[in-house]
Amino acid sequence: MNRSNPFDLTDKKVLFSGATGVLGASMAQYLASHGAELLLLGRTPKKVNALRDQILAQGGKAWGYYADVTDEESLEKVAQLISAQHESIAVLINAAGGNMPGAVIRPDQTFLDLDTEALKQVMDLNYLGTVFPIKAFLPLLLKNQSGTILNISSMAASRPMTRVMGYASAKAAIDNLTKWLAVELAAKYGPNFRVNGLAPGFFLTEQNRALLTEKDGNLTQRGQQIISHTPMNRFGQPEDLLGALHWLCSDASAFVTGSVVAVDGGFSAYAGV
Ligand SMILES: NC(=O)c1ccc[n+]([C@@H]2O[C@H](COP(=O)([O-])OP(=O)(O)OC[C@H]3O[C@@H](n4cnc5c(N)ncnc54)[C@H](O)[C@@H]3O)[C@@H](O)[C@H]2O)c1
Repeated sequence: MNRSNPFDLTDKKVLFSGATGVLGASMAQYLASHGAELLLLGRTPKKVNALRDQILAQGGKAWGYYADVTDEESLEKVAQLISAQHESIAVLINAAGGNMPGAVIRPDQTFLDLDTEALKQVMDLNYLGTVFPIKAFLPLLLKNQSGTILNISSMAASRPMTRVMGYASAKAAIDNLTKWLAVELAAKYGPNFRVNGLAPGFFLTEQNRALLTEKDGNLTQRGQQIISHTPMNRFGQPEDLLGALHWLCSDASAFVTGSVVAVDGGFSAYAGV
């Protein structure tokens, strides 16, 4: 540990799934601007390469890798490539994920209308899409002698919301996995291996724009309900996540494992009265 600056991220190799997303790209660029070396993992080479080139142009260090997080075979191939090119990694961030329209129970539907295929897809992406990368890349963390895993959860995990049934279930499974793995890694590999979660509240991004705002930009009824249930009275901005991200990726959080940190403007603390 760098005792004079436990927040130091210089030369830490961070493998990042979902790095090309709205929140992912903001987080990846932030880490690179603080000296971390970014190993960007995504399905679409064009998007991954564009982000890599942006980071390089800003003087950061970045490499692109291509895999679907629900495909164990493609993840294994990436793990072999990274092992040959970088030997090990210090941080694994699992941000690939998101809601799927088919797995939503609309107000005019009931649970009996549940599309079980869509439910399987949203569970596959959010839950197995976190489990599989951890299984594939854990050996690279272990080679580093110390390492940390950060799973991107959601408020929907701890405060299940109407409509987004599948997504909420999948993210709840992520919170449980985070705690389970925190215990498992510390017990089997020692205290230098940590697992935490980051649970963003409501951020106006492509995933939820249609649920929260009308075409003219005004809030939907759901958007208004969320704002009125958020003591800070606004949606989050991608930058709001960066302080907690930095802390959880660095040695400054060396005694923190099994935690899911909410960055939600107070949403989860508020009982509504
Ligand atoms: N946007 C929000 O308000 C919000 C709130 C809470 C939690 N989250 C979570 O934060 C994370 C990032 O969200 P975002 O807003 O940046 O989402 P986004 O939709 O902008 O990005 C998701 C990323 O995941 C990647 N991805 C999707 N399926 C994949 C697959 N099968 N294999 C590999 N990559 C795949 C996409 O290419 C993209 O890079 C997600 O896990 C999301 O569930 C978002």
